[in-house]
Amino acid sequence: MSPTGPHGAGARTTRSAATSCPVTSPATRPSVTRPRVALVTGANKGIGRAVARQLGERGMRVYLGARDEERGRTAERELREGGLDARCLRLDVTDESTVGLAAKRIEEESGRLDVLVNNAGVGSSSHVPSRTSADEVRQTFETNVFGVVTVINALLPLLRRSDAGRIVNISSMLGSLTALADDRDPTGALPPGSLPPPTGYSTSKAALNALTVLYARELHEDGILVNAACPGFVATDINGGQGHLTPDQGARIPVLLATLPEGGRTATFIGSDGSPAGVELPW
Ligand SMILES: NC(=O)c1ccc[n+]([C@@H]2O[C@H](COP(=O)([O-])OP(=O)(O)OC[C@H]3O[C@@H](n4cnc5c(N)ncnc54)[C@H](OP(=O)(O)O)[C@@H]3O)[C@@H](O)[C@H]2O)c1
Repeated sequence: MSPTGPHGAGARTTRSAATSCPVTSPATRPSVTRPRVALVTGANKGIGRAVARQLGERGMRVYLGARDEERGRTAERELREGGLDARCLRLDVTDESTVGLAAKRIEEESGRLDVLVNNAGVGSSSHVPSRTSADEVRQTFETNVFGVVTVINALLPLLRRSDAGRIVNISSMLGSLTALADDRDPTGALPPGSLPPPTGYSTSKAALNALTVLYARELHEDGILVNAACPGFVATDINGGQGHLTPDQGARIPVLLATLPEGGRTATFIGSDGSPAGVELPW
């Protein structure tokens, strides 16, 4: 599982102005072993930032995809102050040009990508379908679904250069058709009947789950494992801080799936139930 792809991480730090956040302190160190390389989208706050930090703490070089550059720079600075190789990357998943430039920079600096965590996501109103506009559903899909397709397809050439590619899609129990049909949270975090019907969000995460299975099947031959993670109910901006888990706790299952060993699971949907391996959720 050594990170020795043909285009391993070099010490180059050339940055395109369009995709760079300024670097506040040098973090590139000469190293005999090449670090594994990860990209986390939406890494400037919340669960994404916690995932990025935990991957960095495992010795990875972590690119922090950030739509909001100001917050991205702050996250980069904090992680680098902790000794991690964190690199802020301007990346709006709904903007193909920033995605393309992000892929170009990762290729120039690191030559390959080992881990892609599609974390960037937006919520939607909790209205029932008949009170939800098609435009709201479309807006939610732009980030939570089409953005993921854009990012995966742009990064696939770099992931294929890895000897152990991993893709983790941050989904939600609210995207489980089984949970929605039963009106029941299989993780037990929410009491029966309490599921709100956030139409745009739930349908987008259900579509993301379908994409997870389809990419997993396609990329199996390349040795790239593709899984979906539900982080649990985490206190972040997306739910106005109502969750009962911390972002660090929510990052646990995504990090587990991002660091699966060779021959590990693929095309699964894993949720947080407090156990080390998490719980397999129904699609
Ligand atoms: N919190 C929970 O209980 C929970 C449960 C299940 C699943 N999730 C999922 O976990 C993921 C992270 O959410 P969170 O809870 O950490 O919420 P959050 O704190 O609101 O973070 C969302 C992140 O996504 C980024 N983002 C949104 N649209 C983007 C775009 N077009 N391009 C790039 N980045 C974009 C945001 O960046 P900006 O700063 O630019 O807005 C932010 O960094 C989401 O996919 C969410 O659906 C969360």
